[in-house]
Amino acid sequence: MTVTNQIKHVASPLARQTLLDGDLTRPIAGNRPNKLLPWVQVIKIGGRVMDRGHEAILPLVDELRSLLPEHRLLILTGAGIRARHLYSVGLDLGLPVGSLAPLAASEAGQNGHILASLLAPEGVSYIEHPTIASQLAIHLSAARAVIGSAFPPYHHHEFPTSRIPLHRADTGAFLLADALGAAGLTIVEDVDGVYTSDPNGADGKKAELLRETTVAELAKLKGTLPFDPALIEVMTNARHIARLQVVNGLVPGRLAAALRGQHVGTIIHTGARPA
Ligand SMILES: Nc1ncnc2c1ncn2[C@@H]1O[C@H](COP(=O)(O)OP(=O)(O)O)[C@@H](O)[C@H]1O
Ligand SMILES: [Mg+2]
Repeated sequence: MTVTNQIKHVASPLARQTLLDGDLTRPIAGNRPNKLLPWVQVIKIGGRVMDRGHEAILPLVDELRSLLPEHRLLILTGAGIRARHLYSVGLDLGLPVGSLAPLAASEAGQNGHILASLLAPEGVSYIEHPTIASQLAIHLSAARAVIGSAFPPYHHHEFPTSRIPLHRADTGAFLLADALGAAGLTIVEDVDGVYTSDPNGADGKKAELLRETTVAELAKLKGTLPFDPALIEVMTNARHIARLQVVNGLVPGRLAAALRGQHVGTIIHTGARPA
């Protein structure tokens, strides 16, 4: 009898609290989480860069190769033109967003496999989400870089807020970098950074490049951004990644300069308190 009673009484500060009351959980859950891999640099490469083929990809691969002796990299690829085709076919057939999300994620993975093939001579491989979740440390101890899909695995659990998946590659890359407590996050685009409006849009001439900005300022901008709108909320609530840089991957040298600490694109300050 006594033994059964002791087993039932698990000592835990949260045992008697509702997890819904922030005031009660804050003393336990309010601290900054540990940095799991504080030395890893996360690079997210946009699908629109990958879609441009060898002219864009081969110089970028050279640049990534040149960074390997200096940094340990988690390179995450986004989805591009093939996901757009999947969305249009899927939407035409009335597929729910939870069916479209894994299809688009698989295209982001395809881009990762392409990049991994090109960097294979350097010991770089593509690894799947479960491996990123549980074996990233050992992979990055064995190789200077690994490649994965930037899409978060919401898949069939994707929020039904919109018909196009809400959580895409930028959100996925940021969530991962923040959860890992990474040394940095660089988003590689096909434009020089974040502008006040789409530089390739109808009013493109009026668009001004924002050299340095905050997530609060971006949240106020009307119009489009070169990343998923969901990233705004995720950046606002960041725990570790206090800033990130958006750079143009089509201009040789920009990505390497960013990883070397230079200001060559748009620096965005997030809601995380600097450590
Ligand atoms: N405020 C903005 N600043 C910069 N680029 C923008 C902005 N709004 C829209 N864009 C457009 O977003 C494009 C990048 O599209 P995006 O879907 O982010 O590509 P990727 O999938 O490669 O990240 C740019 O080429 C640019 O035309
Ligand atoms: Mg983008």
